[in-house]
Order: sequence, then C-alpha cells, then structure tokens
Amino acid sequence: MKDGKLVTLAIESSCDETAAAVMLEGRNILSSIISSQIDIHKLYGGVVPEIASRHHLENVNTVVDQAMDESGVTMDEVDMIGVTCGPGLVGALLIGLATAKAYAAATGKPLIGVHHIHGHICANFIEHKQLEPPFTALVISGGHTNIVEVTDYNKCQVLGGTRDDAAGEAYDKVARVLGLGYPGGPLIDKIARAGNPHAVEFKRVFLEKGSLDFSFSGIKTGVLNFINSEKQSGRNICVPDIAASFQAAVLDVIVAKTVSAALDMKKDRIVLAGGVAANSRLREMLKAECDKNGIELYYPSPVLCTDNAAMIGCAAYYKYKAGMRDDLTLDAMPNLEL
Ligand code: KG4
Ligand code: ZN
Repeated sequence: MKDGKLVTLAIESSCDETAAAVMLEGRNILSSIISSQIDIHKLYGGVVPEIASRHHLENVNTVVDQAMDESGVTMDEVDMIGVTCGPGLVGALLIGLATAKAYAAATGKPLIGVHHIHGHICANFIEHKQLEPPFTALVISGGHTNIVEVTDYNKCQVLGGTRDDAAGEAYDKVARVLGLGYPGGPLIDKIARAGNPHAVEFKRVFLEKGSLDFSFSGIKTGVLNFINSEKQSGRNICVPDIAASFQAAVLDVIVAKTVSAALDMKKDRIVLAGGVAANSRLREMLKAECDKNGIELYYPSPVLCTDNAAMIGCAAYYKYKAGMRDDLTLDAMPNLEL
C-alpha cells in the first residue's frame, strides 16, 4: 500500500479539537479525524481548559483508532509519530503527548514534536501540492496573530505578532458583545456580509512606523463604547453594520502589514494559515492587494484552516526528513516559541 513512501501518524490536542491523521509522504491525507468540543464550550462562551482536557482524555484513543482504520495502513507501516507539543493549553497538550509517547514506546517508532504554528503553515503544503518555501506567512487564529518569514520547510522566523489579543480572540469577544454566540469568527464573517463596513470608523491600530506587530485589545472597548453611546442617544444599533465596521478596522491593518512584510522581504508569495484564515472578507481583501502588487496568495480550505492533525503530520514529516527526532522526555510547552 505505501510503496516505500513515508507514513506519519499525527495527533493534535492543543485546544478544543481532538484530532488524529495518517499522512503519506507528508502532503497526502490517508485519513483525518477531528472531534470538536465546540458545542460543549459554547455553553460557557469560550474554551474551559479543564473541560477540554477531560474530553481529550475521553476521546483520544477512539480518534486515533478511527484514523488508523480509515487510513488503510497498519501500525507496522507507520514510520513516525508526530504530535503537537506546544503552544496551547498545558492539560490539553499533555493528553495528545502522552498518547503519542505511548505509541512511540510500544512500537519503537520515532517521535516528533511539532510546533502548532508550524503545523498551521504546513496545512498549505497539503492543499497546494506545488507550493514550496520561501514565502511570507500570516498565521491568524484564536491564540495567535503572527507574520512569519518561511525560508525553508523547517525554518520559520517571526517578524511580528500581537502585543495583546489574537485576531480570533478579538472576533470572539466582539461577537459576544454583539450577542452573536461562540465561536464568533464565523458568525461575524457571515453577518458582516449584510453590513456597511464604513458605517462606523473604528480606530485602525498600526503602532509605530514600520512595526509588524498588532494590537487588538482596544477594539472590543471601541465597539462597546459605540453601542452604549448609540443606546443612550435612543438610536437602534445595526449589528451587521457594526460587525462589518469592526471587521474592516481589523482587516485593514492585517492586510496592510502582511503585504508590506512580503514586499520588504522581497517575497512574491503570501500563505494564510489558522482559523481566521477561513474568513471570506480577509481572503477577498488580501487577494485584491496581492493582485495589485504581483504577489501570489495561497490559503487552505476551511477544514485545514482550523485545528487538525493532518497539518501536524505534514510538519512532522519535514522534520523527520531533516533528521529531527524527539525522545520520550518530550514535554508539553504551553508557551513554546516558533
Ligand atoms: O486555528 P483555530 O481553530 O484554533 C486556534 O489555534 O486558535 O482558530 C480558531 C479561531 C476562533 O477564534 C474562531 O472564531 C476563528 O478562528 N475563526 C474565524 C473564522 N472561522 C474561525 N474568524 C473569522 N472568520 C472566520 N470565518
Ligand atoms: Zn490552531
């Protein structure tokens, strides 16, 4: 079945998705199982770490068994075990790691720890078979907002990041203020399509000249203040207009900084990754700017944007090819730097 090709079993459990995948030669999915806890955390308006860990523990073995069954390969045919070792919720990471280590110990297969952001970037190699480094990546999710220079499969340098909230976190907080529910990103994406992005001019936070960092913590207060002053003046608030205006303020900054990073680094490719990369307006705006500047834009399909184990398997494969291995002392690193 594998014809001498390398097979990876990968596990991801850094936040609220318990996922396992089997990959062939890093970029081809033989199986990818994602057990999402979103419906459980919805009740609390966000991810509750202890509940996430408990559900990972309950689900991880079933998810791995299902991934192996659907892949059509046997454990004997697996060449390496890849697992997310950070960053993320410590209790959640530990469940995936303990499982991966148990498989590695029992089978003698090499264990490879993967940085979650490296995984998100690698989702693009699965989607776009011809894509190769170098390129500029924008990794944008519930926990991260980073502009990254990717010079090789295993070489990523962070050029800028958020100084406070991640972009996805800002979407989730503003959605809560607007009474839309959790997770807020997809809900704002949808409702904003019916709104006017120029209805309210929320502040665009560019920080110092030339900085590729971000700050999104003020925008939730901006939205709250606007809603309160409208209510005090007896005016009705228009949720689609506020959603569209919030989104425009956040995306104007993100798009401008990402394109300027690519131009500064003389890169003619931009690669989007992470949960917020599924945002339809972000894709449209970035595509228009990329076209203007002769830059090619790549992004994964939505199921590969949000957390999954296929992307972790792809990253593990490139680390394996470069001779990188971990041993059974590999630990969860909740604040792991890229
Ligand atoms: O990558 P991900 O699944 O988990 C993390 O590593 O954080 O990203 C989840 C985040 C959430 O904040 C969610 O609201 C956001 O991605 N998100 C979106 C969209 N789909 C998911 N944000 C904006 N527009 C979307 N369509
Ligand atoms: Zn993620």
